[in-house]
Amino acid sequence: MTAQILVEKKKLAKAPLELHYLGDRVLRQPAKRITKIDDEVRLLARQMLQTMYSEDGIGLAAPQVGIHKQLIVVDCEPDQPEAPPLILINPVILKSSQKQCVTQEGCLSIPQVFLDVVRPENIEVSFKDEQGRPQRLKADGLLARVIQHEIDHLNGVVFVDRVENTLMRNQELTKHGFAVGSVKPVQ
Ligand code: NI
Repeated sequence: MTAQILVEKKKLAKAPLELHYLGDRVLRQPAKRITKIDDEVRLLARQMLQTMYSEDGIGLAAPQVGIHKQLIVVDCEPDQPEAPPLILINPVILKSSQKQCVTQEGCLSIPQVFLDVVRPENIEVSFKDEQGRPQRLKADGLLARVIQHEIDHLNGVVFVDRVENTLMRNQELTKHGFAVGSVKPVQ
């Protein structure tokens, strides 16, 4: 194995990257493919992981820190110090199951708002890892959910755009200080 990006799973006094929140237009800009996987990309991945752990997240996409690159980081086991996080560069969903499921989602860019979202239950995704090696991954459960949520961010989509219960969505957004007009429903 080549060197992995080792990041301690802990909260830093100050996260290295600043989050952007719903209503900020950077969240709506599509991310660009990464053509060269170099130390700059690996540093960004490291800082995104540190930011994610500092903010108690289990996934983070580069547009959330104002960077329009197709890079996401995921860790569904943030309490397991030895479990390696996933770094997905230029991820593409190859297959999605017909079968869908409902799960409550949240997002570091929309703090305190948690709402049900329907998505395919299983996916297969291709991506490059931080060493530039092509990878394929079949995911289900929470992992499939987080990867789909983060890939949405790369396309300028946030989870509230997919919420079917618009009444509940608007109530929750308003309650936590977000403008209902920031939602761009997807069909
Ligand atoms: Ni999110």
